[in-house]
Amino acid sequence: MIKILILIGIFCTYIYHCSFYRDAVNEVSLHPLTDVYTQQLQALNLTVRSPIRVNKQLIHGRFLHITDIHPDLYYKEGSNVDQLCHKGEGTSGKYGDAILGCDSPIILMAETIKWIERNLKDKIDFIIWTGDNVRHDNDRNFPRTELNIFDMNQNVSDIMYEAFKNPDTSNPRNLLVDLIPSLGNNDVYPHNLFAPGPTLQTREMYKIWSPFIPQNQLHIFNRGAYFFREIIPNQLAILSINTLYLFQSNPLVDNCDRKKDPGYKLFEWLGVVLKEMRARNMKVWLSGHVPPNEKNYDISCLRKYIIWTYEFRDVIIGGLYGHMNIDHFIPLDAKAAYKSLKDSRKDKKGKAKGLDFESFELDDDYDDIDFEDIEIPDFEIDIESNQFDDESEDDEVTLKQQEPMKILGGTPRNKVGYLESLREEYYASIKKRSKSGVNGERYSIAHVTASVIPTFNPGLRVWEYNTTGLDTLLSTSSNYESWDSFFEGVDKYMEYLDSVDDNDNPYTAFDYFTFKKDKTIPSKKPANIPLGPAYTDQTFSPTRYTQYYADLSAINKGDKPFNYEYEYSTDDKHYKMQSLLVNDWLKLGRKLGKPVKDKQKGTKVDKKLETLWGKYLKHSFIDSDYENLGYG
Ligand SMILES: *[C@@H]1O[C@H](CO)[C@@H](O)[C@H](O)[C@H]1NC(C)=O
Ligand SMILES: *[C@@H]1O[C@H](CO)[C@@H](O)[C@H](O)[C@H]1NC(C)=O
Repeated sequence: MIKILILIGIFCTYIYHCSFYRDAVNEVSLHPLTDVYTQQLQALNLTVRSPIRVNKQLIHGRFLHITDIHPDLYYKEGSNVDQLCHKGEGTSGKYGDAILGCDSPIILMAETIKWIERNLKDKIDFIIWTGDNVRHDNDRNFPRTELNIFDMNQNVSDIMYEAFKNPDTSNPRNLLVDLIPSLGNNDVYPHNLFAPGPTLQTREMYKIWSPFIPQNQLHIFNRGAYFFREIIPNQLAILSINTLYLFQSNPLVDNCDRKKDPGYKLFEWLGVVLKEMRARNMKVWLSGHVPPNEKNYDISCLRKYIIWTYEFRDVIIGGLYGHMNIDHFIPLDAKAAYKSLKDSRKDKKGKAKGLDFESFELDDDYDDIDFEDIEIPDFEIDIESNQFDDESEDDEVTLKQQEPMKILGGTPRNKVGYLESLREEYYASIKKRSKSGVNGERYSIAHVTASVIPTFNPGLRVWEYNTTGLDTLLSTSSNYESWDSFFEGVDKYMEYLDSVDDNDNPYTAFDYFTFKKDKTIPSKKPANIPLGPAYTDQTFSPTRYTQYYADLSAINKGDKPFNYEYEYSTDDKHYKMQSLLVNDWLKLGRKLGKPVKDKQKGTKVDKKLETLWGKYLKHSFIDSDYENLGYG
């Protein structure tokens, strides 16, 4: 705590003159449930419980994740799917068809948002909206222009705003349901390419998303299209990350180790904000478009991402992503990330020593190293050191660089293969409990949800989280610097870093002993701070989610009205997950991976677990039956 105060003190004294204010005490109560509302919750397979009223805000303990809408103005019903449903005579359905490779008809987007308005709007606290709101660039006859892309982003943004605005206020930023957008690789022109800001693109996106981005983040947003959004005052926030700076397919960025790269700067920003979150005891979800895995992220970015989630495991609840169109989860191994970092920094003689990874054992047995004579900017005063030990464990490390996956139109190919490799490389290699930490803290989880675009079937996910204790938390007043002044300080700090980050060299061999100069390697989590909601049951721990899908073939035939129906939930009879802590995901991952290991060892494969994998595939492809159609 003292350290935190010193940090704030230094920050305020040297970087910005802060003004402190005291929140008024909140009025907190339980909001009564009506019969109709209870029935609606039951019909949606959501947990029946009273929202918490805080002043005028209702907190339901639920949020929606929607991604990859890909609306296509040129979509034509009854056209040829081989011409991407733009031309010709054919079978393309009114609402789009699963698997055939076209983008979304406008009516699919419109009906989806209407469905959310009718069914979910009064039951959720916020909407994570992870990008790709523009059609693909895959039809030579219909090339995309930069103007098309801004227009479509504006159009979808307007529709979202209209659906979730608050009619009782004149402040356009005061929405009924907060929307947290992030930038997709198809929301930019040309696709995948996004330059370091400020650019025309960042300024234009700020304008388009102005109701969703806090005003005090204008500068940060213009730098790189990432931002912070507070959801429950002093309790819960979202960090919307611009993953295009971490993405291997963006040719305008290099890696996350070169100080001038926007990915490096993104982690500088992430570090400052996460430290503030910790100081305020706030919890955060990370959200973005492209999920962290070896195929998507540059390896230097991937390992930093994993290391930050590991060292801030008291703060970060998890990561929420889209882009893949496949419903799945990715366990991320911090030990592998540290090992990869260590390997990348071996000096030419190959005699580098390792960063201490095993800190989940919480041994305070550090060899103190004097950082006094190493130049460290004022803001950072971590005088912690690293225990250098040689890694002797035989754990194979799965972080390596691979070709990025192609995301193009047309029937998706080889997606079962993608999941099989996820099963082998990630699920089957999840370490047993003794090596994962009692609460699985060696790992963090990236959650990839189903898309609206009918690459498979359209899907939506509603998360539920633990609100126990929130009334108490909210009844106590807090005493923090205002966000306006904090972010003004962040702007100044980032400018200061720009002025000192003036070399092009990546951190490599010779600065091994000056790790602390790399602001994008976090300090270790102080041992006395308990694990956060991702790891142990507490306020904001995710408890379950329900997945909904639109059965397009039945809807197009007129056998069903347009509707999102229940697909599965994490506590259903297949998954039986009692909560969604990291350990619960590791347990599921081990079950999904076990038959692979059994086959390798030549031992008997558990039929029940093979059946579970079958269910998992079915849900990954959103009940489209893709896994049985032989596309690989
Ligand atoms: C979005 O575009 C569609 C199709 O052009 C149009 O019908 C609709 O009015 C637009 N909506 C908004 C809010 O601009
Ligand atoms: C919510 O967290 C509390 C601890 O704060 C725990 O006792 C309770 O079981 C959790 N509820 C759910 C639904 O997981």
